[in-house]
Amino acid sequence: MKNIGIVTGASSGIGKGIALETAKEFDLDEIWLIARRKDKLIELGKKIYQDYGINVVIMALDLIDEKSLQKISKRLERKNPNIKILINSSGFGIMGDSSEINRKMQEDMILLNCKALFSITNICTKYMSRGSGILQIASVAGFCPQPYFAVYSATKAFVLSYSMALSQELKKRGISVSALCPGPVDTEFFDICERDAKMENFIKRIFMKSPDFVVKRAIKGYLKKKTVIVPGITMKLLATIEGLHIKQLSSILAYKIYKKFN
Ligand SMILES: NC(=O)c1ccc[n+]([C@@H]2O[C@H](COP(=O)([O-])OP(=O)(O)OC[C@H]3O[C@@H](n4cnc5c(N)ncnc54)[C@H](OP(=O)(O)O)[C@@H]3O)[C@@H](O)[C@H]2O)c1
Repeated sequence: MKNIGIVTGASSGIGKGIALETAKEFDLDEIWLIARRKDKLIELGKKIYQDYGINVVIMALDLIDEKSLQKISKRLERKNPNIKILINSSGFGIMGDSSEINRKMQEDMILLNCKALFSITNICTKYMSRGSGILQIASVAGFCPQPYFAVYSATKAFVLSYSMALSQELKKRGISVSALCPGPVDTEFFDICERDAKMENFIKRIFMKSPDFVVKRAIKGYLKKKTVIVPGITMKLLATIEGLHIKQLSSILAYKIYKKFN
């Protein structure tokens, strides 16, 4: 049985960086790279194969489309691998007034950031075993409702909440779940995000991190099986102020209560 890694959003930014680190750090037979831009995935796949000798499967898919999810499911059914690590990085955000931003774009954001992430996770857990893990790319935007980032922050609250709860449920199977919650990261994310409204420059100057900084901390936190990974001191402080630790305690408590009565 092949040990594989699956990375969505591998064509750029955080996902691309994590795919490279995953190929370097984990003992994998194969890595599946997923996003829409095939040329970018092929370029990354060549590098991974040359540098680390890992076989690469390129899946150029639009994850908003249900058929793409079925393709992933069918390929897994045929190959029956052991998924060592799943990284869900595909996602986007748009800043601005939610009553004015194009509705279809906001619906697509929900479909990609929430529905696709859930479906892929749900499909993949069947192919995981003790020692496997999931790394979900959430955001500090998920800690509290953010006016003018309303739908995006709500999608990331979903990712964070779902991941924290799932990490409790999957403990008995020895599968870890980590939610990465970065602040602003210097990636293509802002090309779409700032389409209608701009983020204040001083926020970018103070808080913006490089993808490399975030990727290193993501892998470190994942290996330590941290449920929530918040890269950087300022974002950790923000997480504390916004009650992240209370949320974590509540989810552990809810799990214990459920187990006591079931
Ligand atoms: N940058 C930030 O400030 C920041 C902060 C916190 C969290 N995040 C989160 O980090 C994750 C990665 O973002 P990033 O910063 O690395 O931005 P990015 O460079 O724009 O990467 C986004 C990735 O998502 C993929 N994607 C977009 N739409 C897709 C679709 N319909 N189907 C499949 N894949 C799709 C893109 O690939 P294709 O275009 O090739 O499909 C790309 O690989 C996102 O979930 C984002 O919400 C970003």
